[in-house]
Amino acid sequence: MATLAEMAVEVLTCADGREKTALGRRHAATWFAARATGTPLEIGHCAPPDRPARPERPELLAPRDMPRRRPGTLPGRLALLHAVAHIELNAVDLHWDIIARFSHVPMPLGFYDDWVKAADEECKHFNLMCDCLENHGSRYGDLPAHAGMWRAAEDTRDDFMGRLAVVPMVLEARGLDVTPQMIDIFRKAGDDAAIAALEVIYAEEVGHVAYGSKWFHFLCGRHELDPKDVFHDLVRRYFHGALKPPFNEEKRAEAGLPPDFYWPLAEESAAAFGGISRKSTD
Ligand SMILES: [Fe+2]
Ligand SMILES: [Fe+2]
Repeated sequence: MATLAEMAVEVLTCADGREKTALGRRHAATWFAARATGTPLEIGHCAPPDRPARPERPELLAPRDMPRRRPGTLPGRLALLHAVAHIELNAVDLHWDIIARFSHVPMPLGFYDDWVKAADEECKHFNLMCDCLENHGSRYGDLPAHAGMWRAAEDTRDDFMGRLAVVPMVLEARGLDVTPQMIDIFRKAGDDAAIAALEVIYAEEVGHVAYGSKWFHFLCGRHELDPKDVFHDLVRRYFHGALKPPFNEEKRAEAGLPPDFYWPLAEESAAAFGGISRKSTD
């Protein structure tokens, strides 16, 4: 029987999106079946690739080179679904990567339960977005997608707590902020399938942020560190974007992310931005 780390690397080295997610879902089922019998799989060790295998298409472009499309149009909505599919495929790899990359850090089995469950849900999310695209005669790979999505993983490849701070607690939390407006766009268009898919994603992403916060706090406790201060330090060190309001404070709270974690960083981002704009107008 393969170890969990070996299964994670198998997913990471599979290039095709649908194959990657089918493999991920099978491995998740194997993990939970073994847990149910009381003989959990070994975690093991297996070095993940620097970058996960990905399909030849979509073409990857810098964000500034991405074509702009209005969300009020069908091409605009397809671009939105395509962008979410790309984020979800990246999320599949991010979840399996953390399992393999930090397998040398002893963690309770509950940590792997949470991460395998979230990885399985990311597979489902990618498939849901692909189904929506295919309903409209399009498919993942037909449009360009953002390059640089793996940056957060590269920046935090040696820092487990940094990875938890930046990926679930900043990037996935950002998903909670923006998804309701996205659902509104599809509601206006009467696209019931897309609404249903995005609502599944929205509900399950609260859990992913919560897993991040839970295990981040666990590691802070293990090392006797103050969670809020360490979170601020790690986000300043590893996250290169700005934390921008409006925040979905209710869903963030539900996910165990209190305002004093993100507001001070948002205020710093705003001050830095203000500094730049003052300089440019002097
Ligand atoms: Fe997701
Ligand atoms: Fe997620």
